Amino acid sequence: MYKGIFSFIKHIQPTRRLIKQVNSRPVPRHIAIIMDGNGRWAQKRGLSREMGHRYGSESLKDIIESTSDLGIEYLTVFAFSTENWKRPTKEINALMDLLVDYIDSELDRLKRNNIKMNVLGDLGSFPEKVQQKIYFALDNTKDNTGLKFNIALNYGGRDDILNAVRGLADDIQSGKLAVDDIDKSIFYKYLYTGNMPDPDLLIRTSGEYRLSNFLLYQIAYTELWFSKPSLLWPDFNQRQYLKAILDYQNRQRRFGAIT
Ligand code: FPP
Repeated sequence: MYKGIFSFIKHIQPTRRLIKQVNSRPVPRHIAIIMDGNGRWAQKRGLSREMGHRYGSESLKDIIESTSDLGIEYLTVFAFSTENWKRPTKEINALMDLLVDYIDSELDRLKRNNIKMNVLGDLGSFPEKVQQKIYFALDNTKDNTGLKFNIALNYGGRDDILNAVRGLADDIQSGKLAVDDIDKSIFYKYLYTGNMPDPDLLIRTSGEYRLSNFLLYQIAYTELWFSKPSLLWPDFNQRQYLKAILDYQNRQRRFGAIT
């Protein structure tokens, strides 16, 4: 029994120390995450890819909670890309079911923690049942003032930009906007991220050094953090998250200027 207590304390103490360290410096306002490696994680254990995503959604729950506890304002996760439709139907269906299960099991916690859920992407091609569930969650959290939790669904950075250009063109055509009015701040409003600040930190697990069409316009000056290949998303936990944030806090951001 003592052994169990000691190993629990051994784990808790360094985590507390990390939290203290992170809290002693300004935390990023906006963190974006590419939750990569669910399939490989499952394969290594002789499980189906779908099970990998299910374990991945458990990691996500912990990371949302840590983000909210740290007082970070925005968290954006890549849950389904415009390219993910190329996957087998079985896997796509499992991801849709997972979304529904996630909302069923987590909506109360999101509400309790004052978290506002928001979708980046076009939900139009999602099954009706899934759309309804998502809109229900959006409606039920719309007045929350804590963490803004953005979930990118059927999202692609190029589509985001194209969509914004179409919106601008429509507004010019209808006379709401003049071409000369377009500047960066106006353009931003037409992106899925609207008035949100750009991500300060982008995290990608599983050792892939790619952006995979995620937030292409918004990450111009984002700090990138790629994990080692052995760290797959279902194994990503609060300690690794804190270490990534600490690493970010030790960087010098210059935004093209000199110090
Ligand atoms: C990439 O791993 C992961 C995805 C395409 C899906 C991410 C989804 C989750 C973590 C579940 C989130 C669930 C909810 C409810 C929001 P991969 O499948 O490409 O992994 P691989 O590169 O090892 O094959």
